[in-house]
Amino acid sequence: MASFNTVAGCVLASALFAMVVGKVSNAVVHPHKLDKPAIAVSEEAPAATTAAAPAAELPPIGPELAKANVDAGKAIFQKQCFTCHTADKGGANKVGPNLWGIVGRKKASHGGFSYSSAMQAKGGDWTYEDINHLIFKPAAYVKGTKMAFAGLPKPQERADVIAYLRTMADTPAPLP
Ligand code: HEC
Repeated sequence: MASFNTVAGCVLASALFAMVVGKVSNAVVHPHKLDKPAIAVSEEAPAATTAAAPAAELPPIGPELAKANVDAGKAIFQKQCFTCHTADKGGANKVGPNLWGIVGRKKASHGGFSYSSAMQAKGGDWTYEDINHLIFKPAAYVKGTKMAFAGLPKPQERADVIAYLRTMADTPAPLP
């Protein structure tokens, strides 16, 4: 009897011990887990580039662009972008700026349009990849943008639209 109690006590004690150890190691492991992504993010996005994170997760659009369909892109543009953008030469600014010659155009540079300070701060010219990132998730690429558009999740749709926009220029930029 006594030895049974001792054994039972031992079992109970070790069960308790295991629980305590479990709790403690949770407590130790948990903040450690939280630390890692926080460090990774701050390492990936030093000072200037907020684009660092999306750039890492979005593959280049080049392969889709090579087999893009301009007519399909025009149709997508008319459905998804035309509410806010014209793309013809001399076209009006609407909710968003006219997009004539957008490939290679300086960011936030179209006359008569009042850009957000976030877009003005972005800097550089619109490359294929930059447009790809913008229309994938505008709010993620330009934090604080006025472009209230959820984004085009499908790579081929983005490539088709970009291929269409490329043709809307005096001299279409060379493909990548
Ligand atoms: C709900 C309105 C809206 C829709 C829909 C929309 N945009 Fe925009 N877009 C804007 C606004 C507003 C801006 C200016 C953003 C800013 O200043 O932050 C903008 C900016 C841009 C720019 C940068 C222009 C420049 O001169 O720097 C590009 C490129 C662009 N949009 C492409 C597209 C494409 C392609 C689509 C469709 C897939 C699209 N947008 C859909 C409102 C929209």
